[in-house]
Amino acid sequence: VVDIRKLYAQADVFTYDPGFTSTASCESSITFIDGDKGELLYRGYPIDQLAEKSHYLEVCYLLLNGELPNKTELEDFEYRITRHTMVHEQMHNFFRGFRRDSHPMATMVGVVGAMSAFYHDSLDINDPWQREVASMRLIAKLPTIAAMAYKYSIGQPFVYPRNDLGYAENFLNMCFSVPAEPYKVEPALAKAMDRIFTLHADHEQNASTSTVRLAGSSGANPFACIAAGIACLWGPAHGGANQACLEMLREIGTVDKIPEYIARAKDKDDPFRLMGFGHRVYKNFDPRAKVMKESADEVLDLLGVHDNETLQVAKELERIALEDPYFVEKKLYPNVDFYSGIILEAMGFPTSMFTPIFALSRTVGWISQWKEMIEDPTNKIGRPRQLYTGATTRDYVDVSKR
Ligand code: ACO
Repeated sequence: VVDIRKLYAQADVFTYDPGFTSTASCESSITFIDGDKGELLYRGYPIDQLAEKSHYLEVCYLLLNGELPNKTELEDFEYRITRHTMVHEQMHNFFRGFRRDSHPMATMVGVVGAMSAFYHDSLDINDPWQREVASMRLIAKLPTIAAMAYKYSIGQPFVYPRNDLGYAENFLNMCFSVPAEPYKVEPALAKAMDRIFTLHADHEQNASTSTVRLAGSSGANPFACIAAGIACLWGPAHGGANQACLEMLREIGTVDKIPEYIARAKDKDDPFRLMGFGHRVYKNFDPRAKVMKESADEVLDLLGVHDNETLQVAKELERIALEDPYFVEKKLYPNVDFYSGIILEAMGFPTSMFTPIFALSRTVGWISQWKEMIEDPTNKIGRPRQLYTGATTRDYVDVSKR
């Protein structure tokens, strides 16, 4: 690692690194990835241990504060998150301004950005108390907002959060309850949902997190920064891949069609890529994909789904791709999105909700990274340079002479 800032400033030169493939944009003590080993640590703890032994709100505390909470700290944190889950009642009117058939991600970008218009008392980024309240509000209200975006898109009434339910249970209840028939939250499904949240909670300087940091580096308020992160996450090369992956698996449909799609993915003249495969940092198994695969089996067993064709296609596609020299040479392995869609679909979510679920899970990571940056006295506004390739100086020509 070379810190070349002073040297470059003196010589008035800069590095050219499109896509930031080899440029660190910050120092961070939150999340560590070893892409060659397929290792992911939150504050030093391996993701598989956290997925198995911990739960999402404990992981949120860990990401935000650097250490696992003791019993009192955890109870206090859970209490505060639970008490912030309601959204301002006027936000209901804001939702109603969207077209019914809006994608829930479109609604979320707008509504989360608009939180800065509803919560004026937590916009001052220089006040630690306001930063804390904004963080709590975002982590607590994102499930409510995602569930409201879903309910609105299907024309059902909003379901208010309940203080007697856990974080994941509450989200499932807000999505699937209807006044005529309250939803009975199956504890094992709530656990699987919670694990999905945990696996997505942070992933160091990916595109959306870098977007949050860049927006925050100008002093923008936290709600605006998280809205920027949600917008970035939406793209199919990033968080939108879970929706695109399940749609691809459905399109493949049966295992006999897999070779046709593998051939397309290898064809340089075809823009098609195997969704849910490949990663900028992991050149080995994405450790989250391993846990997600086990979870998919568990959830389908629990729901009594034994002949899920999509899961069969996914497993066979993974097997064939991992033996194919193209994928082996390019070190393309299944990523976190490869199996998550199968679980979410089995739970009853439409594909349009996959990326909103990713967004609500990642909110704690974005907020932790944003806080780390704001609390760093050396933080300065992000301002990448460019390699200019346009015209050299030329004189203006009047429109009559062009
Ligand atoms: N299918 C087929 N070929 C692929 C795939 C894929 N999924 N991914 C990469 N490749 C090939 C590329 O064509 C390229 O080949 P080349 O060297 O012959 O030109 C090579 O592998 C490297 O690909 P890049 O796009 O340069 O790698 P990069 O690190 O920029 O991209 C990315 C990573 C965007 C994740 C890519 O692998 C991809 O598009 N995957 C599919 C989308 C996806 O699953 N995204 C989710 C990522 S995880 C997340 O954001 C939560």
